[in-house]
Amino acid sequence: MKGYSRITGTGSCLPPHRVSNEALAAQLARDGVETSDAWIVERTGIRARHFAAAEVVSSDLALVAARAALEAADCDAASIDLIIVATSTPDMIFPSTACIVQNKLGVHGCAAFDVQAVCSGFVYALTVADSMIRTGAASKALVIGSEVFSRILDFKDRTTCVLFGDGAGAVVLEASDRPGILATELRADGRHANILCTPGTVAAGKVLGHPWLRMDGPAVFKLAVTVLEDAARSVLAKADRTEADIDWLIPHQANIRIMQSTARKLKLAPERLIVTVDEHGNTSAASIPLALDESVRSGKVKPGDTVLLEGVGGGFTWGAVLLDF
Ligand SMILES: CC(C)(COP(=O)(O)OP(=O)(O)OC[C@H]1O[C@@H](n2cnc3c(N)ncnc32)[C@H](O)[C@@H]1OP(=O)(O)O)[C@@H](O)C(=O)NCCC(=O)NCCS
Repeated sequence: MKGYSRITGTGSCLPPHRVSNEALAAQLARDGVETSDAWIVERTGIRARHFAAAEVVSSDLALVAARAALEAADCDAASIDLIIVATSTPDMIFPSTACIVQNKLGVHGCAAFDVQAVCSGFVYALTVADSMIRTGAASKALVIGSEVFSRILDFKDRTTCVLFGDGAGAVVLEASDRPGILATELRADGRHANILCTPGTVAAGKVLGHPWLRMDGPAVFKLAVTVLEDAARSVLAKADRTEADIDWLIPHQANIRIMQSTARKLKLAPERLIVTVDEHGNTSAASIPLALDESVRSGKVKPGDTVLLEGVGGGFTWGAVLLDF
């Protein structure tokens, strides 16, 4: 049995419909909701987001990202023995989006399930896949983050609807004799469930409760900056590495101010921070694999680089994965 897992391919999918801050502000103004490009850029760093067409669901975006990751890994879908999809906007209550993706890929029989950890979902899913590979329960996994957050946004609530977008990212994670993934850390604190949630549910044929995303932005901000530093230090200590070993920080892309604060605390030069939030908005579980794929394809992240992935989100959940690419 090989003792490690490593990423051998990345892929992503952004829906083609790009909505700039100006276009979103104009759309919201028609409903009497006031916002501006200046406010959104200053508070969040977001300039645009992509929204999926009405008929497109999470598994559609996930499929495109997965195929690209398989191609990059030079890997046949039939050789995959584990599919994990991190999503908070699944196609349906059940079956899991992972099972739907498996079927769309035309492969059958391998383990497939969803992970629900909101914006930490990809870090959770990658950690689970790494654990399964290291114990021999799987040897080649597709780990995907895919979201259509536009479906759960209340476009009358300017404090949330300007922040999120749709997209998907994927990696192929394979058993390996050398790392790969160096250390992982997953954390959660359910006491903070109310500061970021979509509390509605379906029961007796009806939507019960509030079906739109709600957030106490300042509370999320404060918690996020603290836990991201803690998670980073934890994985560095576990891997016996230091801040100076980090070539690239790819945090969850929610807000440029949270990301820059984390980079500063880790004493990283600004150019070591991968930023896609400006063009993607917050794509929840998709944000980290989307940013990873873009930075691999643009030539920034190269084989052998040490990369720190960090997630934080509803639950409250957070976590980190330190890896040699
Ligand atoms: C949401 C967030 C950008 C708000 O920024 P902030 O500086 O905390 O702003 P506040 O919520 O204090 O609101 C400041 C003012 O801006 C207004 N405002 C809020 N959204 C606005 C918008 N889209 N356009 C214009 N004004 C807006 C508020 O109504 C408030 O007005 P008031 O002072 O008259 O009451 C910020 O809190 C944040 O990024 N939080 C973390 C969010 C996050 O990362 N979530 C995902 C985690 S996974």
